[in-house]
Amino acid sequence: MAFPPRFLDELRARLPLAGVVGRRVKLTKKGREYGGLCPFHNEKTPSFTVNEDKGFFHCFGCGAHGDAIGFEMRLNHLSFTEAVEKLATEIGLDVPVASPEERRVEQRRASLHDATEAACAFFEKSLREPGGRDGLAYFRQRGLSDDTIARFRLGWAPDSREALKKAVMSAACPETLLIEAGLLKKPEDGPSFDMFRGRITFPIADRRGRVVAFGARTLGDGQPKYLNSPETPLFHKGAMLYGLAHARETARSLNLVVAVEGYMDVIALHQAGFTMAVAPLGTAMTEGQIEELWRLADEPVLCFDGDAAGQRAMSRAAERGLPILKPGKSLRFAVLPAAEDPDSLIKSKGAAAMQAVLDAARPLVDVAWDLTAAGRVLDTPERRAALERDLKEQAAAIADETVRWQYLSTFRERLKTLLRPPRPVWVPRRPGAPTVDAGPLRDRDGRLPGVARIGAPAAGDDAWVKRCEIRLLTLVLAHPPLLDEVGELLGETGFADVALDKLRRGILKHLDKARDLDGEALCAHLRSDGASRMLDLLLDTDEYRIGRPGTVQEARTHWDHLFKRYTSRKGLKADVGHAAERLAQDMSAEAFDQFAALKRHEQNMDGEDGEGAPLELP
Ligand code: UTP
Ligand code: MN
Repeated sequence: MAFPPRFLDELRARLPLAGVVGRRVKLTKKGREYGGLCPFHNEKTPSFTVNEDKGFFHCFGCGAHGDAIGFEMRLNHLSFTEAVEKLATEIGLDVPVASPEERRVEQRRASLHDATEAACAFFEKSLREPGGRDGLAYFRQRGLSDDTIARFRLGWAPDSREALKKAVMSAACPETLLIEAGLLKKPEDGPSFDMFRGRITFPIADRRGRVVAFGARTLGDGQPKYLNSPETPLFHKGAMLYGLAHARETARSLNLVVAVEGYMDVIALHQAGFTMAVAPLGTAMTEGQIEELWRLADEPVLCFDGDAAGQRAMSRAAERGLPILKPGKSLRFAVLPAAEDPDSLIKSKGAAAMQAVLDAARPLVDVAWDLTAAGRVLDTPERRAALERDLKEQAAAIADETVRWQYLSTFRERLKTLLRPPRPVWVPRRPGAPTVDAGPLRDRDGRLPGVARIGAPAAGDDAWVKRCEIRLLTLVLAHPPLLDEVGELLGETGFADVALDKLRRGILKHLDKARDLDGEALCAHLRSDGASRMLDLLLDTDEYRIGRPGTVQEARTHWDHLFKRYTSRKGLKADVGHAAERLAQDMSAEAFDQFAALKRHEQNMDGEDGEGAPLELP
């Protein structure tokens, strides 16, 4: 509802700003202003000021700025309307209703709220009575604590046609109201009766935590499994989120909100400490719900089942999200192991497994790319052109011009990388096994890497691998007799970097005479083989310039140590790749576990061998 300006002026005039702020911040008067510690960021010296004359607060530390209403909104995470209502109530100012019609609607809404609240209290009470025994046992059997049951106000709708009707119908809460609230059902030719019977109840609350509707689950195999309140003046399925009021504070402070599918999932997540979980109400996520999520966090995580239906739902959500993206506002997508929902996952594998699922959430741009590009064969110009056209079409769905442009340019980049000629790949090989060309090596995102040049910086572990390759070669160049001992290993190991690999093969050609060569002589041979350019680049790297071990023996120790780390690192990378492929095909719990374990191992190694990690002996 829009407030009349006169009302807002009066509210502001009657609200002493220093008074509103002073309830939360200890203020000291400094001339015409007050100063204190800013409540919106952590600070030890005050940079927060209140100017009563101007009616504004300002923080020189974090830039927070506003009037009394703004202060209340920020502090308590309220919408403008909510903050106005709260402050007006506090100072006894009637919140105006613009027209008699609006007033009537407001009053009706208030009565409906009273009715749903009364029903909620009745269901809660019924759960604790002998008739609610089965319901209570069911909640407990699903692992819910009494505290959780109370927090989510779970209840029991007695298995009777008139239990609720008898309990809450009154002069103030007449039959028509209960029907309008979706609590009673009125057939054309008979008396009204309770909507929910013999079911456990999940009250659905609005943003402020006021009960507006119910979901009710049967305990047996009856259909439907969940019965939901019909649309009412208070309840619009497509605009509300289950658990919103509970999740709001955590979501805002973490800038993270997680949307799952079901009521029980939300509750299980909250009980396990994920107090930023919400769910749509049995339907696919709507634009309105996505907007609602964006009020809480910039990049909400949407959780989907690992099965085919989950994949389809994910595609639909991505398609729905694209048109309404805004700068800074996106979605992320998390996929659960097959046959698990968050509730069952937490129960069988614990909160850490759920955390891992959330941590692995992919940005919308990746999902959008996959929607169009995954599985396409790109062996002809026409097929490549078709992909390019489809990607453009997909980006065209984005209404916001800036975001659309960014998507187009990201797609263009990826397309470019994807269409670069594949290069031979490094394949782990047992001694004696024939060389296999395993086809193009793809990175974690399934992209084909470009041909790397010596000295060109690569990211993350690729950079480490490359530095390692440089080092393995430069050690040999400094001490050719080393080849006697390590030549065989070097011969079996293709390098990931194309140019370095060529040099590796060049060096191996001189294996026979290496014993009698010094570094200079080996380099001279390589130059006469036409490898001058590469050699110069190599000798110009930091890896060559930094400490070259003095004796062959030292070089040997160093080489062995490096080589061991190098092979296990690359082997692991390949294993992670295979596990990811397997997981993509078969979303089983087992495949997930295997992938997660390898990934953890890789992350541990990242700690030791990340970019910039020393290549020297420890
Ligand atoms: P699910 O069938 O996945 O159930 O429905 P669930 O949430 O895992 O519930 P439990 O664990 O079996 O108790 C997911 C959501 O879809 C809506 C509900 O919101 C439910 O939480 N739904 C499902 C309905 O609205 N009606 C139905 O008949 C079934
Ligand atoms: Mn479930």
